Amino acid sequence: MNIVKKNPLEKVLMKNMELSLLASGDGTEVILHKLYAGARWAMAPADDWTALEHLTILSGRIKMNSSVGEVVLEPGDSVNACPVKEHMIFTAETEVEFLYVISQPQFHFYSNSVKDMMDLAILVEEKDGYTADHCDRIKELSMMLGKVMGLNADELYILNLASFLHDVGKVKVPDEILNKPGKLTGEEYEIIKMHTVWGREILTETNFPDLVKAGEIVEQHHERYDGNGYPHQLKGDEIRVEAAIITVVDAFDAMTSDRVYRKGMDYDDACAELVRHKGKMFHPNVVDAFLSIKHQLS
Ligand SMILES: [Fe+2]
Repeated sequence: MNIVKKNPLEKVLMKNMELSLLASGDGTEVILHKLYAGARWAMAPADDWTALEHLTILSGRIKMNSSVGEVVLEPGDSVNACPVKEHMIFTAETEVEFLYVISQPQFHFYSNSVKDMMDLAILVEEKDGYTADHCDRIKELSMMLGKVMGLNADELYILNLASFLHDVGKVKVPDEILNKPGKLTGEEYEIIKMHTVWGREILTETNFPDLVKAGEIVEQHHERYDGNGYPHQLKGDEIRVEAAIITVVDAFDAMTSDRVYRKGMDYDDACAELVRHKGKMFHPNVVDAFLSIKHQLS
């Protein structure tokens, strides 16, 4: 018998959530989740996955997005799946606590794979001269665009991961090239371009199915609609729409962010640049979708 008073067996603190492992045995885990307002969490299907997954809301309000549409869950409400057959995306409307029970152990799997990748992505962005919230901004904007463009819950979930992790491959680019103040040589630029392929490789090596899928999108985030991008010179609809979304969002964020060496552009000028490159660098439908949500940007 094991009485857990204040200290859980293990606790993982992430930027916008806390996971506490309360009990673990015979393959079953009981995990207390605390999500801060705005945080996202998901249940996702996987090959060879037969587990029962259950959650009960203890406090706060959380919105669930799945094939049945949007449902708000409140204390006492619960969700069961055995096994999970579709992506369910949860967004905390307030600070929320829920108990999550799963009949196949995943606490370490989850915390090691996803958290490590996310920490790595933040590290990369800081190394690259952005502030730590760059990844979050890219993710939020990509999700807004994905919804406008009619992506389903499964696709949104993978877009969520891919947009956050799009530049994770830069971890393999030597610092002296990534932070070089002057102009890059041709050879150095070729190395920078490899961050797309390295990103996919890093995510594939996790063997976490959703990260593997996200890796396919990450590899394409510098392809251009006119076929002049990299690494594979894909063009038009050969490029995944999720990647085309990240390309536009990343360009907009790069143009409007203050960097050490220059002040960011204002939103109208950055949108004019998106329009100027519409159908060349950027997928026209994604630019149109972006302009339709422009008024929501603060
Ligand atoms: Fe990139």
